[in-house]
Amino acid sequence: MTAPTAAQLSLDTLQHDAAALRDQVIAWRRHLHQHPEVSFSEHGTAQYIHDVLSALPHLSITRPTATSVVARLAGRDAGRVIAVRADIDALPIEEEADVPWRSKNRGAMHACGHDGHTAIALGLATLLSAHRDQLAGEVRFIFQHAEELSPGGAEQLVNAGVMDGVHEVIGLHLWASMPTGRMGLISGPAMAAPDTFQCTITGRGGHAAIPHDTIDPIAIGAQVVTALQQVVSRMVDPLDPCVVSITQFIAGTAFNVIPNSAYLSGTVRTFNAELRKQIPQRMEQLIRGITEGFGATYEFTYELGYRPVVNDPALTARLTDVAARTFGTEAIEPMRPSMGGEDFSAYQQRAPGVFAFIGAGNVSEGIVFAHHHPRFSIDERSLDIGLRYMVAATHDLLTA
Ligand code: NI
Repeated sequence: MTAPTAAQLSLDTLQHDAAALRDQVIAWRRHLHQHPEVSFSEHGTAQYIHDVLSALPHLSITRPTATSVVARLAGRDAGRVIAVRADIDALPIEEEADVPWRSKNRGAMHACGHDGHTAIALGLATLLSAHRDQLAGEVRFIFQHAEELSPGGAEQLVNAGVMDGVHEVIGLHLWASMPTGRMGLISGPAMAAPDTFQCTITGRGGHAAIPHDTIDPIAIGAQVVTALQQVVSRMVDPLDPCVVSITQFIAGTAFNVIPNSAYLSGTVRTFNAELRKQIPQRMEQLIRGITEGFGATYEFTYELGYRPVVNDPALTARLTDVAARTFGTEAIEPMRPSMGGEDFSAYQQRAPGVFAFIGAGNVSEGIVFAHHHPRFSIDERSLDIGLRYMVAATHDLLTA
């Protein structure tokens, strides 16, 4: 008897197996949901992933960092190398959702759906490892720590070599604002670069009743906040997406004291690399002008966050076809880019990649809360959809 060739890896068989794995994927997700760990502290999570993977055949498992896991599934024959990325971290949020699988770790919660991403990738590893002998090429499962916290886990894993030799990289995000049963793929720029800034304005404190003897950092800070609104509205091409949000303004301790300093911080979101470079200069120019004008001083720091997620157009078109064949064209949601950030972009520096969005909301079941909300949840039927998409995508990329 001759061994089957790689071309015989049947998508129908895989999808049939995926359906049988549905309850297991939900069980994995609920376990992870009950035991959330925040970025760079995912020790138990990584161990759990490691244990599940260790029970599967043909995987070679490594731990590139303390809280990440990478599993390589080398097929019988040589071929394409496809990386599949799942992020595994939770958020420092106290869960308010009243579900049996509610978080058992106080102050930590899977409020972004990364528990689901991890469960889906475990499902994919289970399915593909069982068919290793019909597989040509390699599937590399990247269970990445710390997506939620800059500098992020992706960059560390890329530096550790997890993308070496990879031809294509795919990832997904469960998306609560999209109904379950639908999914979206954005060609080109998909998620913004999330940069951050801090500014301390130092004046001269004093008695609130004697303002002329002070340099009031609150009054100056208020003008800085107002002026910074003009960066987007008056200094940036309206056709170039850009956000400047000031999210912290901290100053003062008492009603009758003008404080010495005021602290501001916030975030800037862009897609355009040239614009991304200009924004901090524009901001500082305004801050300098206003503070100097009132005799105050300032300290301004600006930190670059993740690069923007830019989906490879050819690969996006191909995977949109795959998704349409799997779920029907009516399931494909036309999506606009998001000003949110994602460190999936780090992998895209090394190989063409596509980051897909899988609908996970359900208004009639009250699954309506935004990502990072204490009552965030997902419709667990989205896990099966995510898995079937991943099965179809990896099958296509390996065999075509
Ligand atoms: Ni997320």
